[in-house]
Amino acid sequence: MRYVERLLQDIEYVTLVKKQEEAEADRRFCRHGLSHFLDVARIAWIMCFEEAAKEHRMLDGWKKEQIYLTALLHDLGRLAERKEGIPHHQAGADLAKYFLKKIDWPLDKQQEILNAIQGHRGEEKLNNEFTNLIKKADNKSRNCFFCDMQEACNWNCERKNKTIQS
Ligand SMILES: [Fe+2]
Ligand SMILES: [Fe+2]
Repeated sequence: MRYVERLLQDIEYVTLVKKQEEAEADRRFCRHGLSHFLDVARIAWIMCFEEAAKEHRMLDGWKKEQIYLTALLHDLGRLAERKEGIPHHQAGADLAKYFLKKIDWPLDKQQEILNAIQGHRGEEKLNNEFTNLIKKADNKSRNCFFCDMQEACNWNCERKNKTIQS
């Protein structure tokens, strides 16, 4: 995954993720650092892979990279939300655009990633398969059944995960 490698070796990206992790170090609810990004990436990839296998469908060679990039970028706006009050899906989409350009991700493949970041919040299903995949993986990445903050969390009962993604 050469574009993913480029992003993970980008000092500006790494610094931003680390700053975000530091800012959330005392947060008692779900955090938004590299572990979360990778959980989302891996769950989304597994779901995508399983769906394709079920239908005996070959996956486009770009798919895995697209999923990982989206997951690695989807919550990058949390720091801007914290500091400047900009909703993180918006701040994140702007940052994603910047980093995708920096790593030379093809322009014609950019929009789907930006749409998924813009639309990754909330519970409603959207009319976009890729965005829904990321939303679902984002949701499933949280181990609510194991979390001490269950009671205080503002996710509704339906949304809280009662078990692991299977
Ligand atoms: Fe988010
Ligand atoms: Fe997330």
